[in-house]
Amino acid sequence: MGFVIAVDGPAASGKGTVASRLAALYGYAMLDTGLLYRAVGVRLLGTGGDLDDAAAAEAAAKGLDLAELERAEVRTRAAGEAASRVAVHTGVRAALFDLQRQFTTREPGSVIDGRDIGTVIAPDAPAKLYVTATPEIRAERRWKQLSGQGEAVAYADVLADIHRRDARDSGRDSAPMTQASDAVLLDTSEMTIEQAFDAARRIVETARARSGNLPG
Ligand code: C5P
Repeated sequence: MGFVIAVDGPAASGKGTVASRLAALYGYAMLDTGLLYRAVGVRLLGTGGDLDDAAAAEAAAKGLDLAELERAEVRTRAAGEAASRVAVHTGVRAALFDLQRQFTTREPGSVIDGRDIGTVIAPDAPAKLYVTATPEIRAERRWKQLSGQGEAVAYADVLADIHRRDARDSGRDSAPMTQASDAVLLDTSEMTIEQAFDAARRIVETARARSGNLPG
């Protein structure tokens, strides 16, 4: 079993950036699990399906082709909303479980980010981070990202999306977004990307030393 770094947290908290920089630093494989749920949502919408239809959403998850994760459409605002709606269905989460669990066996290690990695997908991960920031700061970051992708949207609408998504992701019955009891909290509200990465690296180094997984 490789060394697993589980990175959870709400939308636009900085977890994706921190996760990919950690993966590059250690030469680990990286999986952004939000893309899986986004691709399921996009797939279902593409076939005219209803996001609230649990059976249709489960079928879309079972038929997911990983090439769909590469499509630009999965990174839009609509895909984020669709993802959080299909993510409430237990059958969707079950259909995506093995793929994620399998990923955590990669050698020499893996970085996997999402909402339920430290709690459900990799509860035994030796390094767990819960990355967060205030809703206002996350909305500002997401607004800049969407604007950079050419998606014109008002900041107030992005902030409303963030609040709605937080409530849905933490309020659902199936694998709700929550900080694992052994995860280290990293609040990036007042941090630059560089500072957040540095703090994350120190958390992981402490976990590596504790587990005897020292750089060699
Ligand atoms: O991280 P991202 O914003 O791309 O995730 C999109 C949505 O997918 C989240 O709002 C959440 O509902 C869902 N998700 C999840 N479990 C994960 C990753 C994402 O439920 N491990």
